Amino acid sequence: MSDRLYIFDTTLRDGEQVPGCQLNTVEKIEVAKALELLGVDIIEAGFPISSPGDFHSVEEISKAVTWPTICALTRAVQKDIDVAADALKFAKNKRIHTGIGVSESHIRYKFNSTPEEIIERAVAATKYAKKYVEDVEFYCEDAGRADNEYLARVVEAVIKAGATVVNIPDTTGYCLPQEYGAKIKYLMDHVDGIHNARLSTHCHNDLGMATANTISGVLNGARQVEVTINGIGERAGNTALEEVGMILRCHKDIDIDTNLNTQHIHHVSTMVSSLMNMPIQPNKAIVGRNAFAHSSGIHQDGVLKNKDTYEIIDPKDVGIDNNEIILTARSGRAALKHRLHVLGVDLSDQNKLDEIYKAFLDLADKKKEINDDDILMLAGRDRVAGQRIKIDYLQVTSGVGLRPIASIGLDIAGEKFEGAANGNGPVDAAINAIKKIINRKMTLQDILIQNITKGSGDLGKVHMQVECDGITYQGFSANTDIVAASAEAYIDAINKFVH
Ligand code: KIV
Ligand code: ZN
Repeated sequence: MSDRLYIFDTTLRDGEQVPGCQLNTVEKIEVAKALELLGVDIIEAGFPISSPGDFHSVEEISKAVTWPTICALTRAVQKDIDVAADALKFAKNKRIHTGIGVSESHIRYKFNSTPEEIIERAVAATKYAKKYVEDVEFYCEDAGRADNEYLARVVEAVIKAGATVVNIPDTTGYCLPQEYGAKIKYLMDHVDGIHNARLSTHCHNDLGMATANTISGVLNGARQVEVTINGIGERAGNTALEEVGMILRCHKDIDIDTNLNTQHIHHVSTMVSSLMNMPIQPNKAIVGRNAFAHSSGIHQDGVLKNKDTYEIIDPKDVGIDNNEIILTARSGRAALKHRLHVLGVDLSDQNKLDEIYKAFLDLADKKKEINDDDILMLAGRDRVAGQRIKIDYLQVTSGVGLRPIASIGLDIAGEKFEGAANGNGPVDAAINAIKKIINRKMTLQDILIQNITKGSGDLGKVHMQVECDGITYQGFSANTDIVAASAEAYIDAINKFVH
């Protein structure tokens, strides 16, 4: 019988630490339910002591999800563990994930401590968490750079104290695959009682080796992998769930099974990307727009003769439906709802579907064929309907020999405001006009304007990063008018810090 590998998804904790990509509780529940459908075994739902919002999300996800284990992160601190246990009180299956840094630099500089004292703190935290839950995972932070002999002592001590899973994070993404694999093997060979717990990988992608390191860990005995959808996460991100899932599916020789229903991968990937306004690079393995597009003549010829020539994955295995229905003004609500589902947007509320359908028909009158980006834009528009600040109107005059000037009307929680300004270009003028009304010190850090389809009448997509009080907020919009899309993206970012 093949071995079983447990999939621990940390999209909602490590993944969500990306500046500006925070989700609200309703959005997190949507993602958690999609992860459940995907067959994830453990969902790390948050770090409850870090904020009341995180606490609330862990509580609500615990209620919403049925069978996966819900996990909450803590430091090796009693108060953190108390709060995590409280946040998990509604979970049917619960886990506390506690831990401490074990590399020389963490012990010396982060904790100003000694190796012996760190082991004592690790054991005490594990025993304390054990008072609340049976399932306790211990993370040895920066294990990737820790001395293997010392690491083995920590792992042995926490297993004796009751840890059911021990996480070996390559926190800085430093390890080489054979080095990380050898670390796991060393622990498997040298830790007394290792078979009383499961070892977990948790690899960051700073050197682009997260997935390779994770697989190397699995080949050497790890039986849990910590991953995120689309590989999102701080800096260069975490190991991508879809990559590990498909590697194990393609390489039957590895003979390790997961509980993943891989045909939901595309759906969850699109959902996470659109909710977090985090575009997926087109050549990203498994979920990128070009992952299954054969463009060279030789490849196309080969694939047409026999798919096996150049295709190792059937796109249907990750939920990509090649027989897309083209949506036009004659398409009905059911076709729109189905396409939204494929794109990761689940609509159970009939009124919302009606609103999006109405906007869809308006757009379909202007454009012959509605593509996936158009549909996501329409769904996104519905998502911003409840925002505090909305644009009533925007007028911009610009042209050759003219200094661009913009006037804008904003609705802020029902009150009307107007502002006008000029600028170096039409987008600059629109942003200056907004700044005349919103009296906060904020800086536009980055702007990305993309034409998402081919024609000049198609949609443009704008991503922005706006800094306020030292925090960076993301804004997004799509519109056939690129200046309007820029103003909307700016307002989208402002809505995240003006309450
Ligand atoms: O990267 C890391 O070390 C972590 C731990 C908190 C598990 O995310
Ligand atoms: Zn991490």
